[in-house]
Amino acid sequence: MKNTHLVAATPATIARAAQILRDGGLVAFPTETVYGLGANALDESAVAKIFAAKERPSFNPLIVHVADIEAAHNVLLAWPERAQALAKAFWPGPLTLVLPKAAHVPARVTAGLPTVAVRAPAHPIAQAMLQAAGIPIAAPSANLFTQISPTQAEHVWKSLGERADLILDGGASPVGIESTVLSLAEASPILLRPGTISRAQIEAVIGPIEVLSQTRTDEAPRLSPGMLERHYAPRAETRRFAAHQQNHAQRLAAQFMARGQRIGVLYQSTLIAGTQHPIKMPDRPDEYAQQLYAALHTLEDTGCDLILIEAVPDDAAWSSVHDRLQRASQALDVA
Ligand code: TXA
Ligand code: MG
Repeated sequence: MKNTHLVAATPATIARAAQILRDGGLVAFPTETVYGLGANALDESAVAKIFAAKERPSFNPLIVHVADIEAAHNVLLAWPERAQALAKAFWPGPLTLVLPKAAHVPARVTAGLPTVAVRAPAHPIAQAMLQAAGIPIAAPSANLFTQISPTQAEHVWKSLGERADLILDGGASPVGIESTVLSLAEASPILLRPGTISRAQIEAVIGPIEVLSQTRTDEAPRLSPGMLERHYAPRAETRRFAAHQQNHAQRLAAQFMARGQRIGVLYQSTLIAGTQHPIKMPDRPDEYAQQLYAALHTLEDTGCDLILIEAVPDDAAWSSVHDRLQRASQALDVA
């Protein structure tokens, strides 16, 4: 039954979650970014359960969650000055650092890489659970491979059901998209995944960094195996359109309408007429990010055959949202 697996986070259920984790089980829990599916990062068979539950390919490494800097040391070989400066500035929070791993971190966590990704989440429920468990927790987003990331406990239930031994409900995740991932394991720092902690914020602390997608395309699979992942493979055809392509988007919508199919739209200023599920998205990038995955889940739940998404600006303030939309949708074919 649903309610034995999905429970409100309270001191008692958090204590139960910590015990399940210490016993090698799987717990889905809220973080400020998205919900994670956690297991004891130092227990190889517990970590294997994450890959099985998510149907995630084994080449895609996991992020290890810790309560604080002190706990991070335990999974790392070294803690360079840049890591200290960034952790002091942004932890606990949505910044993941990739560093050389300690020997006792199982290869299954890191997909055989000599490095491990580590972050201290800011969410009070995640913090309480990590402190109660007293072990590092490996946790990818708590969804089946290629599905939309979960920002609410109900999204986790919909995707994983009883595959998690327990789902802690902590309400909607306040950030809404996955953490910024920064490698400190190469000669110079490289941004592997954009997030709400921006390139400019990082550079203000440690100076110039590289951006994987701009400088190292040939090395991308080695440096960031997970970025090959297609993050969202909806049943619906999902297309991005720019405001000036409104007529083309309208024409595509008309084809679907003529077949009696359902259409959802995420838009900011450009409404497509006659669609069943228009969702007006916020004008501010932080608010847009917070609502994006929930909006996609809503459209998926309503059984849309076509999802049209108005493109967001391709500039620094929107870079993390822009990145997620590029992964979730294809550009409109404009003849
Ligand atoms: O906000 C988040 O980061 C969420 C919450 C649950 O903390 N987690 C998350 O995990 O998004 P996941 O598994 O969906 O994404 C992990 C990303 C992948 O792109 C993966 O390739 C990268 O982190 N990663 C993990 N370990 C790595 C490593 N050793 N080197 C390079 N990239 C790594
Ligand atoms: Mg994910």
